[in-house]
Amino acid sequence: MPPPRRTEAAPAKINLFLHVGDRRADGFHALESLVVFADIGDALAFESADTLSLTLDGPFAKGLEAEPDNLVLRAARALDVTARIALTKNLPVASGIGGGSADAAAVLRGLAGAADAARLLQIAAELGSDIPACVLSKPLMMRGRGEVLEVLPKCPALPAVLVNPGVGVPTGKVFAGLATRTSLGHAPAAFDLSSAAALTRYLRTTRNDLEAPARALVPQIGEVLGELARMPGIALARMSGSGATCFGLFQDDGAAAMAAIALESSHPGWWARATQLG
Ligand code: C5P
Repeated sequence: MPPPRRTEAAPAKINLFLHVGDRRADGFHALESLVVFADIGDALAFESADTLSLTLDGPFAKGLEAEPDNLVLRAARALDVTARIALTKNLPVASGIGGGSADAAAVLRGLAGAADAARLLQIAAELGSDIPACVLSKPLMMRGRGEVLEVLPKCPALPAVLVNPGVGVPTGKVFAGLATRTSLGHAPAAFDLSSAAALTRYLRTTRNDLEAPARALVPQIGEVLGELARMPGIALARMSGSGATCFGLFQDDGAAAMAAIALESSHPGWWARATQLG
């Protein structure tokens, strides 16, 4: 009989807004970010094995092959477990939608064994700032350097398109280029989560502070935002995380689907996917 195979989804993470505060003594910046997850992402499968191994497939597998020590293996080693792990890489690499973080989080969930939730979140925080949020994979407010999490009581489904221009962005360099920042102070009590339209109105009062330094490094981000803003039915266009992936929020799923097709067909090399965020 073949060994039992378990699977875990690794949904893309989107920062609906991302406000940056002061640089802390540990070198990380204090953040405030409203984080939601897409209904698309990478996929992982686990089989019992005596040693730890990783195989890659999917449209963006190539982007990881050059990295001998990626977050998936580091997450498994942090748990002190062995397994045969198969990762289907559907999301662009180094792109601000937490692909690597979501993969590591899926490993933590899938191979947790006896580790309890608090221990998993602690291991997650040691591996990377976005990984605790990805372990929970629910709409939440993120604070601290990413480890202070408040799950939202509810969140409307947001019809959206994710667009990546095919250029990887190193997160550290983007933070290093920060010239201005909003600083902190938005409480979730201030959000109107009653509908997608109400939340979008609120989001217009917020921003992604990393957008300006990321655009300075990767001018294609400006082009993506400009193209998204021209799509019929667009309600808000913004960059996620440290880029280069941007998201558009749309009035309905149909408009999002049409925009994804239009953007990919008019820009060879761009990746565009319609999704629901929430
Ligand atoms: O934790 P993670 O590996 O995602 O962070 C990558 C880099 O991004 C850090 O080395 C740091 O330069 C920057 N960063 C930051 N403040 C945060 C998160 C990340 O300055 N809250």
